[in-house]
Amino acid sequence: MTGRVIDGKASAAALREKIAAYTAELTSKHGLQPGLATVLVGSDPASEVYVRNKRKTAEAIGFKSVHVELPADVAQDELLSHVKALSADPSVHGILVQLPLPKHLDENAVLDALDPAKDVDALTPKNAGLLLSGRAHLVSCTPSGVMLLLKEYMGDITGKEALVIGRSLLFGKPAAQLLLAANATVTMAHSRSKDLPGLARRADILVAAIGKPEFVKADWVKPGAVVIDVGINRVETSDGKYKLVGDVDYDAAKEVAGAITPVPGGVGAMTIVCLMHNTLIAACSQNNLPLPTAL
Ligand code: GUN
Repeated sequence: MTGRVIDGKASAAALREKIAAYTAELTSKHGLQPGLATVLVGSDPASEVYVRNKRKTAEAIGFKSVHVELPADVAQDELLSHVKALSADPSVHGILVQLPLPKHLDENAVLDALDPAKDVDALTPKNAGLLLSGRAHLVSCTPSGVMLLLKEYMGDITGKEALVIGRSLLFGKPAAQLLLAANATVTMAHSRSKDLPGLARRADILVAAIGKPEFVKADWVKPGAVVIDVGINRVETSDGKYKLVGDVDYDAAKEVAGAITPVPGGVGAMTIVCLMHNTLIAACSQNNLPLPTAL
């Protein structure tokens, strides 16, 4: 049996169309153009690509896009003053500070300078707390994208066993909350967990967000399980070139899984459109307009 390939690119393209149409209406009816600010510190090649794609998508769907680029050795105070200025700018509704930041910078201080209403990554304590309370408007982008794909490919996941490997603030923790809210039975695993293969073999939904290339093997996958690969790892091939691979040994796992996300073309494409959706929500919320629903 070969599992279905979960086409994140196609799902993302459909969602993007809806967001663009909603944006056009918002701009023509209410004179409101959603604004997204991106902040990039340093020149990490992967971060540069991610931020470029986010800016390009924002512009393509009719948002205002503001970009702040700072050198890797920028002083903490200078970074904070940029984040505070963007937080105070009424034409900017969403702010994304690309992570990770260079080691000398204090990520928590940056998040504390960010207006939670503009925190489209949902990383501030306020938004993380609202998610825990089941009252969040802004939910982290990659977990939201994963939930949309699960809904599309599995429908109701009530009572399903879900394993999330990885416990980051950006993905693992919010993903577990969303799965729980959707009535899955959720296990969170991480680098210190014992018997990862055993835990994985119980999962109807196996979510890998570890950051290690092809770490999850085919014999960890329960036959018929839905496998969501959140990893994006750049590895060198035998001919000296580079390719992107996920955290799952895709070719082998595909033969066991019921459905699986490829890398690239799976989860990544959904992350960007969910960021745009969050910016749209933030823009409506800051202007006392009804929030977009059921995009
Ligand atoms: N670095 C990797 N993924 C992300 C993301 O979704 N948001 C931010 N801010 N940084 C990231």
